[in-house]
Amino acid sequence: MVSAGINFGSSRRTGVDLAEELLELKRERNAIILAHNYQVPELQDVADFVGDSLGLSYQAAKTDADVILFCGVHFMAETAKIINPTKRVILPDLDAGCSLSESCPPEKLAEFLRKHADKNYYVIAYINCGAGVKALADVICTSGNADKIVRAAPADRNILFVPDQNLGAWVMERTGRKMDLWQGTCYVHVEFTARSINKIRERYPGAPVVAHPECTYAVRMLADEVCSTEKMVTFCKESPAREIIVVTEAGLLHRLSKEIPAKTFIPGPTDNCFCGECRFMKMNTLEKAYDALWNMEPEINLSESVRKRAEIPILRMLELSK
Ligand code: 13P
Ligand code: SF4
Repeated sequence: MVSAGINFGSSRRTGVDLAEELLELKRERNAIILAHNYQVPELQDVADFVGDSLGLSYQAAKTDADVILFCGVHFMAETAKIINPTKRVILPDLDAGCSLSESCPPEKLAEFLRKHADKNYYVIAYINCGAGVKALADVICTSGNADKIVRAAPADRNILFVPDQNLGAWVMERTGRKMDLWQGTCYVHVEFTARSINKIRERYPGAPVVAHPECTYAVRMLADEVCSTEKMVTFCKESPAREIIVVTEAGLLHRLSKEIPAKTFIPGPTDNCFCGECRFMKMNTLEKAYDALWNMEPEINLSESVRKRAEIPILRMLELSK
């Protein structure tokens, strides 16, 4: 457990357990703490809810707290703000971005859509994008509901899927629906390779491989199951295997070991010394979370016109994936 140290611009009390202090402050602020499965263990352990992007969106949509302390990356906190304009949404570190989100700036997408106006695209945006991109989309999806959302798309429209080419290709394989794909990638998931997966399989021949759809085609082909982080938890619970190779960001292993202590989870390896951690997700710490809730900043704020337009495809997704 982390203890509070010197006090820099916050009310942290020396010698008091910081996790307990955060929980006390949370009650005073009538706040809820939402944490993504990739957050550091200390944050997962104090959260009211830990889950994938879809689960977190539903939690954000139904909360009656006044404040949402969002322990995740920027687009996740922004999504919570889009559907909760009257609540205050706080993110421990404003620099917690995402390589997928960065790959698709709204101006670039707007220009692409203008240039290809003849295609009359139906835009499906993976939730890993900024509010400006969501505002240009027809519907949002997450890795947990992507095939459902694609199957529900109008049959007579061309689909543009942004920004993750790997998730998009995986959904095409599953649904048979042709789509044009934005060429973004997650810098963490593309580090797993067929070679690194084959190597770990030799060491654990009986262990099934579960991989995230942001992985490349070669890795997905070697996996026994490809799914969102929440579905990975279900897969690991239901699998009769005692050892499972988990090919996603390493933070999920904390939740897996906590909820399924009798099994062993082997982190997906890469060919180099890359640790399988998302540097953006790991920017949030217990200290920053406490200070952010104390100072009520960094706070997510959006222009009302963008927020209103971005809310439409998010609500469409929440309705379609009920
Ligand atoms: P999930 O929605 O499956 O948790 O994925 C989010 C993410 O950022 C994957 O890299
Ligand atoms: Fe973005 Fe990849 Fe980090 Fe997920 S793991 S937040 S997709 S950079």
